[in-house]
Amino acid sequence: MATQNVGTFSVAADGVDPNKVPKKTLYTGAKIPAIGLGTFGSDRFSGEDIAKAVVGAASVGYRHFDCASVYGNEHLIGPAFTEIMRGGVRRDDLWVTSKLWNDKHGEKDVGPSCEKSLKDLRLEYLNLYLVHWPFPNFHSPGCDVSSRSPDAKPYIHENFMKTWRQMEKLVERGLVRHIGTSNMTVPKLKLLLRDARIRPACNEMEQHPHFQQPELFKFAMASGIQPIGFCPIGSPTRPDRDKTQTDTVDIQDPVIVTIAKRLNVHPAVVCVKWAVQRGQIPIPFSVFRNEYLSNLQCTASAPLAAEEMKAIAGIDRNCRLIKGQVFLWKDGQTWEDLWDLDGRITPP
Ligand SMILES: NC(=O)c1ccc[n+]([C@@H]2O[C@H](COP(=O)([O-])OP(=O)(O)OC[C@H]3O[C@@H](n4cnc5c(N)ncnc54)[C@H](OP(=O)(O)O)[C@@H]3O)[C@@H](O)[C@H]2O)c1
Repeated sequence: MATQNVGTFSVAADGVDPNKVPKKTLYTGAKIPAIGLGTFGSDRFSGEDIAKAVVGAASVGYRHFDCASVYGNEHLIGPAFTEIMRGGVRRDDLWVTSKLWNDKHGEKDVGPSCEKSLKDLRLEYLNLYLVHWPFPNFHSPGCDVSSRSPDAKPYIHENFMKTWRQMEKLVERGLVRHIGTSNMTVPKLKLLLRDARIRPACNEMEQHPHFQQPELFKFAMASGIQPIGFCPIGSPTRPDRDKTQTDTVDIQDPVIVTIAKRLNVHPAVVCVKWAVQRGQIPIPFSVFRNEYLSNLQCTASAPLAAEEMKAIAGIDRNCRLIKGQVFLWKDGQTWEDLWDLDGRITPP
């Protein structure tokens, strides 16, 4: 057992009662907290910092944590979950998501990859296991957006279904309660819904006021797939390699800033509050107590006014931040080719 110091779990007097945090109901009837803590520290925070934030966030009332093997910190977050449960939180009251990385789509790799995440996280089951990207394209963590893998492949539905069958087996084996997708598009989800024996419960997708993805959002909701919104604040401190000159900044938008002033909160909090009220599940990241606490508190306070919701609906800039360039599979493509913008899967 590691002797890593993850801090001590204790119910914080200024925290939010987890029973007061809204929940969403999935098609299985399971309830998932309507906000989770992101655990991807980019290049800025160590796994140890993030594991401490997980314990701190649970102490103030978070019960939902968004993990992934590619974040490289599940072995450090595992002891944090052990500490939280040692402190009295039941496993059934936690929601833990993990994700299958792109180099593990092979039929023989899915089971062992999930088992490794479970071992690292020190859990007997995951609430949700996602296919992180629909492409089996590996790239090394932290690489430049211009780097390409010579083995990169397009989306091939037949291959994706082979991966999905293995995901379904994880449910049958009791290792995971729900399976889902991430970074999908409407045409890819339509094919999956046609062919899945066990339907995806959630799709994790980029969503913030300047990138609302209304069509995909509506499709998912209408299909019984709960959207989980990543980069809910517009990932203001993401690495420079993930920024382009045309990217816009949600937390500087006058509509967001005006509402933040009315509520006397940071504009980031308005983004989180809007997300919960709209219906996606935001998973904001922060290791700072004041930030993750205010992100949680806003989910249990008076809702935004209808005019404010309408004003935020009007500031969508279609500004995708996580463009996925490294997953392109042939020369001469642009990142738009990954996202099936004309409603058809981009041909190989
Ligand atoms: N499925 C996928 O492909 C995928 C892709 C990307 C991300 N994700 C998940 O989504 C999570 C969140 O994404 P993200 O970290 O890129 O973006 P984000 O949550 O939009 O932005 C996080 C940053 O916002 C700032 N922030 C957070 N709360 C704040 C507050 N109350 N006041 C002021 N600033 C605040 C923090 O900056 P400072 O640290 O400077 O304070 C933090 O680093 C990740 O951790 C990961 O779990 C999934």
